[in-house]
Amino acid sequence: MNSIPNAQPMANTFFPLFLFFLLFHFPSLSPAKLQLNFYSNSCPQAEAIVRSVMHKAFIREPRSVASVMRFQFHDCFVNGCDASMLLDDTPTMLGEKLSLANINSLRSYEVVDEVKETLEKVCPGIVSCADIIIMASRDAVFLTGGPDWPVELGRLDSLTASQEDSDQIMPSPRANATSLIDLFSKYNLSVKDLVALSGSHSIGKGRCFSIMFRLYNQSGTGRPDPAIEPRFREELFKRCPHGVDENVTLNLDSTPYVFDNQYFKDLVGGRGLLNSDETLYTFGETRKYVRFFSKNQSAFFDAFVEGMSKMGDLQSGRPGEVRRNCRVVNGQSVII
Ligand code: HEM
Ligand SMILES: *[C@@H]1O[C@H](CO)[C@@H](O)[C@H](O)[C@H]1NC(C)=O
Ligand SMILES: *[C@@H]1O[C@H](CO)[C@@H](O)[C@H](O)[C@H]1NC(C)=O
Ligand SMILES: *[C@@H]1O[C@H](CO)[C@@H](O)[C@H](O)[C@H]1NC(C)=O
Ligand SMILES: *[C@@H]1O[C@H](CO)[C@@H](O)[C@H](O)[C@H]1NC(C)=O
Ligand SMILES: *[C@@H]1O[C@H](CO)[C@@H](O)[C@H](O)[C@H]1NC(C)=O
Repeated sequence: MNSIPNAQPMANTFFPLFLFFLLFHFPSLSPAKLQLNFYSNSCPQAEAIVRSVMHKAFIREPRSVASVMRFQFHDCFVNGCDASMLLDDTPTMLGEKLSLANINSLRSYEVVDEVKETLEKVCPGIVSCADIIIMASRDAVFLTGGPDWPVELGRLDSLTASQEDSDQIMPSPRANATSLIDLFSKYNLSVKDLVALSGSHSIGKGRCFSIMFRLYNQSGTGRPDPAIEPRFREELFKRCPHGVDENVTLNLDSTPYVFDNQYFKDLVGGRGLLNSDETLYTFGETRKYVRFFSKNQSAFFDAFVEGMSKMGDLQSGRPGEVRRNCRVVNGQSVII
């Protein structure tokens, strides 16, 4: 089981404390044990319900499943997979929704709400929001033509969230390969995991906002990133001219509704949208994986599933609960 940086494996280092928590059933101070088929007795329809709501969302708005899939990354990297990123701000807590990486960017929270409402009707208080994110991300990949895989479940939802932690941890679209390798290694995710997981950008969109510096002032040079293929660069200039509404969106790869290895082919061709994408091809240590995945889709799918499973194991070891509403901690009134 992985634990996330900064979190102390308390229960293992101080045995009497561990016993105390065991005896008094203190909620999950030692990380919850994740299992396959975790809800097979308590809510046997859980996985089918998540998939069916995701399927409906996909029909209604194809991009929304990509938007939900992104939640797994933004949840698991910030204090473990605990649905902290779903909490709304309160008068006493600045949550993660308005953090640098998430503001005006994360979207489709309402799809998770719909999953949760459906589950609460069938098995109230049983399925955590953190597990919903993991199931829904898997389903998003499957529904767009990618692999399907079994997920371990049994996570609890956090009692708090931290805008500051999200600001400090989540990488910028300007990031270079060295800093991404470094960040992922803090979670025991390998260079291969980094490249495979970046393949999630096979689906979905990004904003002009995320590439303006790359188009007009890469590394303060006043010039575009030379790694952008010239015809693609002209297209990007047209879509994101100076003064454009920076919320205008562009495809992350040339097949944004299909989960495939086209993303890697695009990187090889200099047609990656984000600097953090193209840098994986420019940089030697990551380039070999980009090439490999661009030539072998099933190798990409295998590595992607492995990366998602490892990322899904990240836990903070902090106490938790099963939230009834993914946006608020239980027992707190919803403030309108
Ligand atoms: C390696 C570091 C990563 C960086 C720097 C990064 C950054 C970004 C950025 C800047 C966007 C566009 C946001 C916008 O312009 O509003 C984006 C979109 C997206 N990211 Fe990442 N990302 C990374 C890794 C990941 C991972 C590991 C996943 C999931 C496993 C993921 C899933 C997605 C998806 C699906 C979208 C499209 C969302 C949509 O259409 O709403 N990303 N990412
Ligand atoms: C990474 O692996 C090491 C050694 O197995 C372990 O001690 C550490 O807790 C792990 N870190 C994370 C973030 O999983
Ligand atoms: C990569 O980015 C980091 C952090 O922004 C920076 O310190 C480093 O110099 C960059 N490395 C290269 C090779 O550009
Ligand atoms: C480009 O970036 C550099 C360094 O960040 C800055 O000093 C310069 O003013 C920028 N140029 C333009 C045209 O924005
Ligand atoms: C993007 O849209 C949000 C609201 O949806 C707005 O607050 C923000 O200012 C817009 N950003 C830009 C760069 O226009
Ligand atoms: C592609 O990768 C898979 C492993 O996922 C491997 O079994 C297969 O032999 C590879 N195909 C080629 C043509 O290299």
